Amino acid sequence: MMETLNKNKQFTVYGADCKRRDFLRKGVKLGTLAAVTGMSLLSACKEESEEEGEVTPSEDLMREHGVMNRILLIYDTCKLHLTNNEPFDLAVLNNSAQIIRTFIEDYHEKLEEDYLFPRFEKANRLTDLVQVLRSQHKAGRILTDRIMEFGKMKSLAGMDENQKLVKLLGDFNGMYRPHGSREDTVLFPAIREIVSKNEYFALGEDFERKEHELFGEDGFEAMVEKVAIIEKQLEIYDLSQFTPKL
Ligand SMILES: [Fe+2]
Ligand SMILES: [Fe+2]
Repeated sequence: MMETLNKNKQFTVYGADCKRRDFLRKGVKLGTLAAVTGMSLLSACKEESEEEGEVTPSEDLMREHGVMNRILLIYDTCKLHLTNNEPFDLAVLNNSAQIIRTFIEDYHEKLEEDYLFPRFEKANRLTDLVQVLRSQHKAGRILTDRIMEFGKMKSLAGMDENQKLVKLLGDFNGMYRPHGSREDTVLFPAIREIVSKNEYFALGEDFERKEHELFGEDGFEAMVEKVAIIEKQLEIYDLSQFTPKL
């Protein structure tokens, strides 16, 4: 038993743990790193393992879509209140639109525009899709500006404004649900086909660095918490309320 354990341990440390990785990217890098710094292969492997625990660029972008989807649910809820003539604090719209502006438009979509779209255009892949996605980012900004204007009002003047806001929220959600889904299922999976493994992991590091620069070390968690506060205000935080009674 002990022999097996030791064997496994040795195998893990000096063999499988490193072999599992791409030697082109990491084997050479580890060797060079160990030679230059005097770092043991064991600690170099450990460092690489920790690096692998980081989120990939697609995972990063998809969990940002998760934040966006929670805002879409907030917009749905506000829209329902407006349709049913139920009062709610319009500030929730401004607070939600501020999250869309800072976290989705100025950060998430900027990553897509700066790091992904140009790579697809250069590779002449999915260019029609990229063109639509770009134009939807522009339209999204216009809609967010308008939602913010409503969100800063104390109350709506009448049914005319009520209807305008209903349409605005419907337009926003109607565009962003298919937008995000298309990116999740078509654009993001295709990134791996047009960049090398090295470049793919480097993208992930760039995304993380940007996120930390803009929002701090726990930027993502803080953003999720902000969304949760708005959900609680609208009483849509408790997930079990969405389970149908069967
Ligand atoms: Fe996008
Ligand atoms: Fe996106």
